[in-house]
Formats: sequence, structure tokens, C-alpha cells
Amino acid sequence: MRRYIIAGNWKMNKTVGEAIELANGLKRELYDVTGLDIVICPPFTALSEVSEVVTGSNIYLGAQDFFWEEKGAYTGEVSSLMLKDTGCKYVIIGHSERRKYFGETNETVNKKLNTALKTGLLPIVCVGERLEEREGHKTFDVVKDHVENSLKGISKEDILRVTVAYEPVWAIGTGKTATPEQAEEVHKFIREIFIKMYGEETASLLRIQYGGSVTPDNIEGLMAKENIDGALVGGASLKVESFSSIVKGVK
Ligand code: 13P
Repeated sequence: MRRYIIAGNWKMNKTVGEAIELANGLKRELYDVTGLDIVICPPFTALSEVSEVVTGSNIYLGAQDFFWEEKGAYTGEVSSLMLKDTGCKYVIIGHSERRKYFGETNETVNKKLNTALKTGLLPIVCVGERLEEREGHKTFDVVKDHVENSLKGISKEDILRVTVAYEPVWAIGTGKTATPEQAEEVHKFIREIFIKMYGEETASLLRIQYGGSVTPDNIEGLMAKENIDGALVGGASLKVESFSSIVKGVK
């Protein structure tokens, strides 16, 4: 069976002090939750301190991005080894905001994915269509392109360490969630691509999480769908109450 994964993407929010406070609050609220993976992804500047807070708890640490080279003259960048060093277990790769503002492509996502796997991080790879692509009936083409090319060449063993996050761009930060039916339709489509790439058994073990305006009110409906294995939460992950209600809403 697939284990649910609820991850909070804090994006460019929280000073170190605020991040410690939020992590402590989550640890208090969620200490007795079992049976699913809980991940928080603070900004780089707060990783070490948040790591100290969550180490030994049921909350895993994740980062939001990194550069694919191991080290060297890449001013401003952070490597996967540096993330590992702060205590990160997970890392988000190819978020639509990185594709939109920072020139991330399927090719760069694929390079980062290979590096993350080599380093021993668990990657969360984001895919999803923009509003005009959905309206132009291109959702499936775009998602297929993202999945096939971002995850190109990954072995059968490694693919099971990857979580795919389906995040329709039009649902991110807009309050407009995909309905459980809309999300399930795409999740099922993604799983079918994996069946072709890796076979039925491996594909059935792969986790596909949904992201885009997830809240305590809509989590239950989304998680009730067969192919939705968790959530990647933005705005609602920034408060103890809302993120812990989301985690507790997964049954
Ligand atoms: P929101 O939950 O704020 O819509 O953000 C979703 C997201 O981008 C998570 O990575």
C-alpha cells in the first residue's frame, strides 16, 4: 500500500525565528500522528534551525530547490550535499514557480533529480498545466511532457524514492482548488504513464500528491480519491492550525 505524504512548502516565507516557532507548534500538535509522512520545507536560511527542532520527531525536513552540481563556482547556489548536511530528507524539484520565474525546464529538473537520488535525498517532482493550457485542452499533453521528460532515465529502483506532485498552476495560491474529480482524472493519467514506463507493480507503489489551494476543508474529499496519495500545501502550511488540521484530515 502507498503511504500518504503531506508536505508543507513554505516558499519565501518565515524568518528564522518565525520558522522555529512554526516548527515547534507543529511538533506539539502532531506528535501523536502516525501512519503517514509529514514533511516541512522551510526556506534555506531556516533549514539548520528547523532541523534541530524536528530531529527525532515524526516531521521530516525538506528543501524547496538546489543546484545539480556537487560544489564549485556557482554563486548563490546551494548543493544537494549541503541540504543533506542540514538534515534534509526530502527536496522539491521543478515547482511551477521555479519554472515560471527562474527558467526551470524538464531538462534542469531531470539533472536535479539525478543528483538528488545520487545524494540520497527523496525528491518531490512537480508537474502541472497552466490555466491557458487547461482551457486549450492541453492538460494531458503538458502533464505527459512534464512526467516523461522530467523523470527520463530513472531506474525502477530509484523511481520508488520519487514522489510526483501534480500541481495545476491555476490552482496555486488562487483559492481555486481542482475538484477531487479533476485531480483524480490527472493522477490516474499520471499513474497510467508510469505503468507504461515501469509496469503495473512499480506504478502501483508510486506516490502522487496533489497541490493547489489545499485547505482543512477540502483535504478529505481529495484524499478519498484512489490515486491521490497526499498533498503539497503552500499557503495553508504557514500556520500551525491549518497545516495540522490538514494532516489530521487524512484518514
Ligand atoms: P497553495 O497551497 O498556496 O495554493 O500552494 C500550492 C503550492 O504551490 C505548493 O507547492
